Amino acid sequence: MNVLVAGGAGYIGSHTVKSLKAAGHSPVIYDNVGRGHKEVIDILKVPAVIGELDDRAVLGKALQDNKIDVVINFAAYAYVGESVHQPLMYYHNNVGNVIVMLETMLEAGVKKLVFSSTCATYGDPDVIPITENESKKPVSPYGRSKWMTEQVLQDLADADKSFKFAALRYFNASGCAMDGAIGEDHDPETHLIPVILQTLLGIRDKITVFGTDYPTADGTNVRDYIHVEDLADAHIKAMSALDTHQVIQCNLGTGRGFSVKEIIATVERVTGKTVPVEYGPRRAGDAIALYADPRKAKELLGWEAQHKEPEAIIRSAWNWIQKHPRGYATT
Ligand SMILES: NC(=O)c1ccc[n+]([C@@H]2O[C@H](COP(=O)([O-])OP(=O)(O)OC[C@H]3O[C@@H](n4cnc5c(N)ncnc54)[C@H](O)[C@@H]3O)[C@@H](O)[C@H]2O)c1
Repeated sequence: MNVLVAGGAGYIGSHTVKSLKAAGHSPVIYDNVGRGHKEVIDILKVPAVIGELDDRAVLGKALQDNKIDVVINFAAYAYVGESVHQPLMYYHNNVGNVIVMLETMLEAGVKKLVFSSTCATYGDPDVIPITENESKKPVSPYGRSKWMTEQVLQDLADADKSFKFAALRYFNASGCAMDGAIGEDHDPETHLIPVILQTLLGIRDKITVFGTDYPTADGTNVRDYIHVEDLADAHIKAMSALDTHQVIQCNLGTGRGFSVKEIIATVERVTGKTVPVEYGPRRAGDAIALYADPRKAKELLGWEAQHKEPEAIIRSAWNWIQKHPRGYATT
């Protein structure tokens, strides 16, 4: 299939482009490279259009010139903390710009979308593991922006039966390409595994663990870490599943939760190094434990995570970060 990957120069997008290419599809990256990386476009050697999501002329031309069958949209802002301070920026990009993208797609006759959603749409869930039926009570503008857009997509699908979408609610995307070709490079980096690994490289002094008195086995937060190549694979399966389903909304996680302390211990095992840790108070807004019930993705997409233990995820991230301690800029 001809696939336009909006946000394809970012972390999850670039890994999906790599997997799409390997699976025989024809991906085209569409990205403003504001938070993505030009370097990754060179590494992946796929056609790319540098453009804004809401640029109707540039996006419309990219859709038509490349005879696009399906759009995968990763393009968004994705920092919970930043969204609290700059809510309008988040609603503008994650909702408003996606609406313009949808209008442009429909104008170009492109009626299939795979959309990056998030477990942040659930907020602090009442029941874990989290099923897709869990109530949506997002606790940040970021989570709300993604849930709003999911509702926009549902309304559009209700009004236009030829429009099809899959909203994939990722848990904690992590790890890097198993072959070491591409990796994770956010600025600032806020994700636990790369932050821990940066301390081992001396880029940070220490890692602060926020809260040791949560009602979990060891007192620290529990999360579901899903390898980025497993996520990429789910997007490819979701594109095909849209042949037989008009609307897909499902979680992408392993179904297993690991605490912050367990992740630190695993990093120490994998790298053979001691992680400098400082224990601090709880951080406002952190849910106690979040992990997916992954059964719906298996049923609808025929997909399940291959990496269910954090070792392989951490090994792949360690492999990449040692060669790129300051991200793509050090390539
Ligand atoms: N990283 C995670 O753990 C995680 C978890 C759940 C959901 N998500 C969602 O997955 C998606 C990708 O996340 P990521 O970590 O790869 O983020 P990222 O910042 O690495 O990638 C996003 C890409 O989109 C591009 N972009 C943003 N706004 C744009 C616009 N208006 N026009 C054109 N390009 C634009 C950026 O330049 C960047 O390359 C996001 O939608 C995010 O909300 C991520």
